[in-house]
Amino acid sequence: MQIPRLHPDTIEEVKQRADVYDVVSEHVVLRKRGKDYVGLCPFHSEKTPSFTVSQTKQMYYCFGCQAAGNALKFLMDLEKRSFAEVVLDLARRYQVSVKTLEPEQRQELQRQISLREQLYEVLASAAQFYQHALKHSRDQAMLYLQQRQLREETIQQFAIGYAPAGWETLYRYLVDDKRYPVQLVEQAGLIKPRKEAGGYYDVFRDRIIIPIHDVLGRVIAFGGRTLGSEQPKYLNSPETEVFIKGKTLFALDKAKATISQQDQAVVVEGYFDAIALHAAGISNVVASLGTALSMEQVRQVLRYTDSKQLILNFDADAAGTLATERAIGEIADLAYQGEVQLKILNLPDGKDADEYLQGHQPEDYRQLLANAPLWLNWQIQQITKNRDLKQATDFQQVSQDTVKLLKKITNIDTRDYYIDQCAEILSFGDSRLKPLRVENLLTQIAPQKGSGDKLRPSRGVKTPNSTVQTGLSRPTTESTLLEEAEALLLRIYLHYPQHRQAIVDALEERDLQFSLSHHRFLWQQIIDVPSEESNLISTVQETCLEYPEEIGLVSYLFHLNEKTQKEMLSHHEKLIQAAIACMEQVLREKRYRHFRELWNNPEVEPEQLESYYKAFYAEKMRLQELDRERLFSITDLLGD
Ligand code: UTP
Ligand code: MN
Repeated sequence: MQIPRLHPDTIEEVKQRADVYDVVSEHVVLRKRGKDYVGLCPFHSEKTPSFTVSQTKQMYYCFGCQAAGNALKFLMDLEKRSFAEVVLDLARRYQVSVKTLEPEQRQELQRQISLREQLYEVLASAAQFYQHALKHSRDQAMLYLQQRQLREETIQQFAIGYAPAGWETLYRYLVDDKRYPVQLVEQAGLIKPRKEAGGYYDVFRDRIIIPIHDVLGRVIAFGGRTLGSEQPKYLNSPETEVFIKGKTLFALDKAKATISQQDQAVVVEGYFDAIALHAAGISNVVASLGTALSMEQVRQVLRYTDSKQLILNFDADAAGTLATERAIGEIADLAYQGEVQLKILNLPDGKDADEYLQGHQPEDYRQLLANAPLWLNWQIQQITKNRDLKQATDFQQVSQDTVKLLKKITNIDTRDYYIDQCAEILSFGDSRLKPLRVENLLTQIAPQKGSGDKLRPSRGVKTPNSTVQTGLSRPTTESTLLEEAEALLLRIYLHYPQHRQAIVDALEERDLQFSLSHHRFLWQQIIDVPSEESNLISTVQETCLEYPEEIGLVSYLFHLNEKTQKEMLSHHEKLIQAAIACMEQVLREKRYRHFRELWNNPEVEPEQLESYYKAFYAEKMRLQELDRERLFSITDLLGD
């Protein structure tokens, strides 16, 4: 096979994507041992495993035969294939688009590579200039750093500098003294052409300079902070050939070793937050450069932690919360699948890490890190923040938001866990309410089945387009149908004592229960009232005072206006029958689907198939019967 020359971007991307564990584990049985994996070496024969794979290092190493390398090397050696073949193969597997190089492209690339090298050099020179300027120019800059309690060694470690106030001090140093081509300095993002007069001026003037390094420690850009309150507070280098904001994390070069050692990464918002934390000995910390955290940035830090623990410590103000939400949105897919263990830390009193450390010990911060809530808990906190659950509108909002959140969780165990948590919150300490809440959340989270199901009896379609509000009009979805049926029964029970026994009997006979939690709640209150009590409605209303939000959903049932009365006419028995049929139908529908799923399940033993088939067929027949029963009673009572 003639293999064309691959574009370095393609090679780089394949290297980034091809995880050594992924690749090796397809060929070698690997077992976890400590942070690494071990298995029998495929390159020499052995009985006890001495072949290790480290995800953190993205390397394999055999203690027996010293074979070592990354994912690509592994495949080349194992399958005796060329570098390009392996890259192409992996590109296909990881869906990396393949770019190749024509001879002229190769030249261009060569040029780019040397351009990058030159840019690194200019940027390093600039960094030295700024550091020098900090020591030798006005002491205002040094004073500023002292006020921020930065120690000399921290200033050294982060190579912090100062850009003098003049318009072209850096320009003169780099272009006149060091003889760098002016275009190169411009391409490094350090100077800009003057619009009218010609010539150039420095991008950074009279600012504290914080160099930004890439993962290998090369200076690729700068952040500049004003000494006072001028705007903008921070100025960052423009994007250049070597600096792409969305792919860079400040201080990753200094944090990566600790991240891997502590198996956990912290992302903060500001340069000085990262610097202050490093200075306090908490050095598994990077900063996001004030932009929304990108997936690319997240992947970068996660490379260094085995258990993929990431803690976001953004500001607790509105902007910080928004940034946190956006970051969560960006990594939600990973997080829902459990591929990153995401926690959120908001410091007390809305402080950022730098401010917090001015008044607290590093140990305090570590403690807060250790107790940071998982991201879903944090989101639940956000939903309930500043809301009074005893207020009906707040309660409804919270409950809606909660359902929205829970719906997104795909892992059943995780979802159950959070359903329980949310139910707890929504019952504000009243343990009697909790089962209702769980039930209610479960109902609302359950996926709504579409009507494209051919086997299913077409309920609703045949229903007359009635205007009877109290009847079972226009059933749109299963839940509104059920809601109406249950409400109808409760209403009749409350207002027409002569039908009470019939309702109780019908429910008992068919073994039916109210399935919506607010209805079940009301029903519980109703049957708790002693039968000798003459005024059922006011007694129930009174006992319900304690549960304003529960009763908010059903209080309309306590009233019976003229219109409703007229609509119900005297067809109470028929309505009861229809409502009961409807409730049974919903119940049977569930069973019908359950058995049909079992029957369709390819893993079911053949002996059981028949019984499932019988069960689902029986449910189906009963459903059709109920359909007739219900429709019959409605058309009957509408009676043209
Ligand atoms: P903050 O406004 O939270 O500032 O910006 P800070 O880090 O607390 O700054 P200090 O403590 O007053 O010095 C957080 C980050 O957002 C970016 C910077 O990366 C900053 O560190 N930012 C902020 C900008 O890029 N430009 C700005 O004008 C402000
Ligand atoms: Mn700050």
